[in-house]
Amino acid sequence: MQTLEAINNRASLKARLSAREVEQGKILKILDAARLAPSARNMQPWRFIVVRGKEQVETLVSRAFSEGNQVAKDAPIIIVACANPNDDIVRDGKEYYLHDVGMAVENLLLAATELGLATHPMTGVNEDELKRILCIPPEIRFVIATPLAYPVTDSYDEATQERLSERTRKNLDELVYHNEWGKSF
Ligand SMILES: Cc1cc2nc3c(=O)[nH]c(=O)nc-3n(C[C@H](O)[C@H](O)[C@H](O)COP(=O)(O)O)c2cc1C
Repeated sequence: MQTLEAINNRASLKARLSAREVEQGKILKILDAARLAPSARNMQPWRFIVVRGKEQVETLVSRAFSEGNQVAKDAPIIIVACANPNDDIVRDGKEYYLHDVGMAVENLLLAATELGLATHPMTGVNEDELKRILCIPPEIRFVIATPLAYPVTDSYDEATQERLSERTRKNLDELVYHNEWGKSF
C-alpha cells in the first residue's frame, strides 16, 4: 500500500528544494532501498556518490550540470549514480547496467518520497567534467544524478501539488497489448 502511495506521489521537484540538512539516517534508508533493487544475475552494478556540503554541491552543479539543472545547487545533497558497464551483462547488444542502475534509482526516488524528501532525476550533466570533479575512474560511466532535499514548503504534498496536477502520461491502452503486439487489452 505504501509503495503505491509513493509511486503516485513521486514527482520531479527541482524547483522546490530547500537547503535544510537531511538526516544521515534518512540518507542511509534511501541508499539501502537502492541497494535492494533487483539486477541481472544479481550483479548489482550500481555505485553511488553522495555529494554533500554547500561548497561541494555548488562546485559540482555549477561546473558539470546543464543550465536547466542549475537549481540543483539549492539542495544540501546530490546523489550521483554510476556503474562500470563490465559489471553487468550484455545480451543481444543490450547493456543491462543502465537498466539495473535505473531500477536502483527508482527505489531510491520512491524511498525518498515516502520519507517526505524531494528528488529530481537528471542526466543533463557534462559527464567528463563530473568525473573530473568526483575523481571517477575512466572505466566508470555516469548514469544519472538527483538532488536530495526537504521541499521548501511545509509538507511534501504541498510541494508536489502543482507538478502532479500537470502530470502527463500516456493512457494504458497506448502501452499495453493483449496476447500479441498491437491487440488492445
Ligand atoms: C533518465 C532521465 C533523465 C532526466 N534528465 C533530466 C534533466 O536533465 N533535467 C530535468 O529537469 N529533468 C530530467 N528528468 C526528469 C523528467 O523530465 C521527468 O521525470 C518527467 O518529465 C516526468 O515528470 P515527473 O518525474 O515529475 O513525473 C529526467 C528523468 C529521467 C528518468
